[in-house]
Amino acid sequence: MKVIALLGSPRRNGNTDIMAEEVLHGSREAGAETDVIVVDNYLVRPIAEVGDKSSERDDPRNDDDFPSLLEKFLNADIVIWATPVYWAGLSGQLKCFLDRMSSYFNKEPYKKRFVGKGHIVVCAYGRSEALHGKFVTEPMKLVVDVLHGEYLGDVCSPSTYPKGSVRNKTEILSACYELGLEAVKKRKC
Ligand SMILES: Cc1cc2nc3c(=O)[nH]c(=O)nc-3n(C[C@H](O)[C@H](O)[C@H](O)COP(=O)(O)O)c2cc1C
Repeated sequence: MKVIALLGSPRRNGNTDIMAEEVLHGSREAGAETDVIVVDNYLVRPIAEVGDKSSERDDPRNDDDFPSLLEKFLNADIVIWATPVYWAGLSGQLKCFLDRMSSYFNKEPYKKRFVGKGHIVVCAYGRSEALHGKFVTEPMKLVVDVLHGEYLGDVCSPSTYPKGSVRNKTEILSACYELGLEAVKKRKC
C-alpha cells in the first residue's frame, strides 16, 4: 500500500509538514510505503481556460510539472492533503493542484485511477476558532465525494502560528499518528 502526503505549505519542517510526517509514521507502522511530495518544489500553474464539459477538458498548461505530480497522486492508495489555513482556505499550492485535476478526473484514460482512494486531511492554523479548520475540511470532503474516494479522517491544529510549534502539542501529533495507522489498517481489510 502506498501513502503519499501532498505538502501544501512552502515551509519545510513547518507545522503541516510535521503533522503529515506523523501520519506517514503511523502508516509505515501499519506496513505502508510512504512518500512526501512538496508541491511548492514544483511548477504547478493555476488552471487556464478550460471547457465546461469535464469529460472533454484539455489542460492547456500541461507543459509544467503538474502531469508528473498527477502521476504520483494517481499511483497512491491513500493521499494526505496537508495544508496550512491561508486566508480562510487551502494554500495556493494545493488549490492550484486541485484546480488542475479538473482537466483529468472525469476524462479517459485517467478517470478510473481517481476512484476509490483513501483521503486524509491535516491542517494547521493560527486562529483559535474551529471554523478555520472547517475552511479546509469542508471543501475537501466535497472533493473526496466528487472523486468517489473515502474520507478517512482529519486532524486540525488550532492556535498554531509559529513555525514548528505543533511539536509542543503531543495530543495533535498522537492523533496524526493514530489516523495514519488506522487508515492503512482499515484500507487493508
Ligand atoms: C498567507 C497566510 C495566510 C494565513 N491565513 C490564516 C487564516 O486565515 N486563519 C488562520 O487561523 N491562520 C492563518 N495563517 C496562519 C497559518 O495558518 C499558521 O501559521 C500555520 O501554522 C502555518 O503552517 P505551516 O507551518 O505548515 O506553514 C496564515 C498564514 C499565512 C502565511
